[in-house]
Amino acid sequence: MSWAHYGSVISLEGFDANAFLLTQDHPKVYDVGAGLSYAVGDHLDKEGELIPLDIHYMDPLANYFNRILKKYKKTLPAVEFGMTEYLSAFIPGDASLITIQNALDHSSSPIKGIVEALVALREGGVLYLNHHPNEAEIEHYKGFHQYNIDETAGELVIWNQSEKIYVGRLLGAFASVETKRMDNGHIVSIIRKQGDDVSMPAPLCKYVDHQADKAELCEVLLRYQFHNTSLVKNMKNSFRFGMFNVVQFLAQMLPWNLKMKVKRLIKQA
Ligand SMILES: C[S@@+](CC[C@H](N)C(=O)[O-])C[C@H]1O[C@@H](n2cnc3c(N)ncnc32)[C@H](O)[C@@H]1O
Repeated sequence: MSWAHYGSVISLEGFDANAFLLTQDHPKVYDVGAGLSYAVGDHLDKEGELIPLDIHYMDPLANYFNRILKKYKKTLPAVEFGMTEYLSAFIPGDASLITIQNALDHSSSPIKGIVEALVALREGGVLYLNHHPNEAEIEHYKGFHQYNIDETAGELVIWNQSEKIYVGRLLGAFASVETKRMDNGHIVSIIRKQGDDVSMPAPLCKYVDHQADKAELCEVLLRYQFHNTSLVKNMKNSFRFGMFNVVQFLAQMLPWNLKMKVKRLIKQA
């Protein structure tokens, strides 16, 4: 994958997205976990003619990213709020192509994210994944990465210390999965939705259980409120946040080489 293709033709490593989208009626693309990278191009090339693409950039940190765009007066499209775990609530089942690059392994349940994305696709639509392999192992399961994404004998494998899921086997006839390890090590998967939502195999239904989602979200909200309503805790958090900002400000002034050395040391710790 590479960054900032905004203003140019859609281009994805290991998948001819332009050719695929030209086969689609009113193609609609969602770049999920987009950050502020605008890595997916926003035009189609139809026999040399550049056509603007209906593309949506989506991220759970949308509010923060939009604030940055506003602050620095960037004339780029706003980032829409949405996250992989509940993707079908943000995309109304009409996507031709959903791309998730370097973000699925940040989520609390990558398999749920894949199934949610399949629900959000139209029939024949493609979920495109591009990730660095085994990030959780590399980072010793600290921080965001709690799952590894890998390829074994052409199969997409999502695993951690307690489970290992062969994605193609789990999805069965609902979707085809083509996975490859690129020369630069990236794991690219092209997952094509075959059936409609009704034919979703029973083992997948638990991943798109809206009642369970509501219960989980209420619990998270109330747990957050319980842990964050004390004045003392709020003051502690504000102090920590202030300290974090000071450290970040000072770190920005360090030379690049030194910054990378410190980052490596933190990763090893
Ligand atoms: C390493 S950045 C990747 C940005 C961009 N896709 C790229 O490849 O340059 C990871 C992004 O994933 C987003 N993210 C984290 N958890 C997510 C989730 N559960 N669903 C969707 N995006 C998530 C983060 O907010 C962040 O913007």
